[in-house]
Amino acid sequence: MQGLNIIIGCDGENEFYWNPLDPKSPNPHALIVGTTGAGKTQLLKTIIAGFVNHNIPVIVFDIHGEYKKLIEDFGGRYINFYDNVRINPLNPGNKEPKATAFEIREIISSIFRNIGDIQKDKLYEAIIETYRTKGIDPDKVPTSNLNPPDFGDLYTIINEQLENNPKDIALRGLLARLRPLFEFGLFTAERGLEMSELLKPGITVIDLQTIPVASEELKDIAVVLTSRKLWNYLNVNYLNVLGSEEAPHIRVVLVLDEAHRYVFENSQYNIC
Ligand SMILES: Nc1ncnc2c1ncn2[C@@H]1O[C@H](COP(=O)(O)OP(=O)(O)O)[C@@H](O)[C@H]1O
Ligand SMILES: [Mg+2]
Repeated sequence: MQGLNIIIGCDGENEFYWNPLDPKSPNPHALIVGTTGAGKTQLLKTIIAGFVNHNIPVIVFDIHGEYKKLIEDFGGRYINFYDNVRINPLNPGNKEPKATAFEIREIISSIFRNIGDIQKDKLYEAIIETYRTKGIDPDKVPTSNLNPPDFGDLYTIINEQLENNPKDIALRGLLARLRPLFEFGLFTAERGLEMSELLKPGITVIDLQTIPVASEELKDIAVVLTSRKLWNYLNVNYLNVLGSEEAPHIRVVLVLDEAHRYVFENSQYNIC
């Protein structure tokens, strides 16, 4: 698949192609920029159709409900995020739980802006405490199948800490800021869609408008945590492929329309 050619347009005479696997290009990623109405979303749809024609799975995060029509035209799955995707970001996988605690602290504070350093630290400590109450050592890579805590447990711990120390203004402020993240049970115990489902050929559009509160922060964290989960899944399941003799190929295409939403200052978790 070295010569993967994705049509991106034509001028009446010539067709123009993009080859994400061009050996001359440093990586297979692409960024589309332009003013409002310039045709970025339209171009994305053309590119998506190109990948689908090559049988490469495409996952689209649909923030504004712009991609329903695409599914009608090309087939595929339109997935209600709220009902069908339940990711538990506190599942440490094969990493030390404290590394996950740190990572989640960074992700949350990148999206829910204006969380101060002390509040970030309190969030970290609360996550660590959440592991401890589940009998999980935050310093040890889990060896057996564990029953990891989720954001529901984290909510309980923060509330308990506040009951024990009602004058902790920083913690109270943190809870006020993060309440929507906890109140709707979005990131509670893992169930629903398997990551392997997302990697099937065809288009999968994840509808983020189904989140029951019109919070841009909730949509953003849903995109970031789903991408992270997918990335971890690919790393665990296909890591060996990366170092093998196999010809480079694209396993999945992730489409982030409105990607400027995921450019975080001073963060290692930028998606762009
Ligand atoms: N190549 C094109 N030919 C004709 N109409 C186009 C083309 N690209 C975009 N449009 C139309 O222009 C409008 C804005 O395009 P859109 O892709 O939504 O822009 P953006 O995402 O950059 O804001 C839409 O109505 C779209 O259908
Ligand atoms: Mg657009």
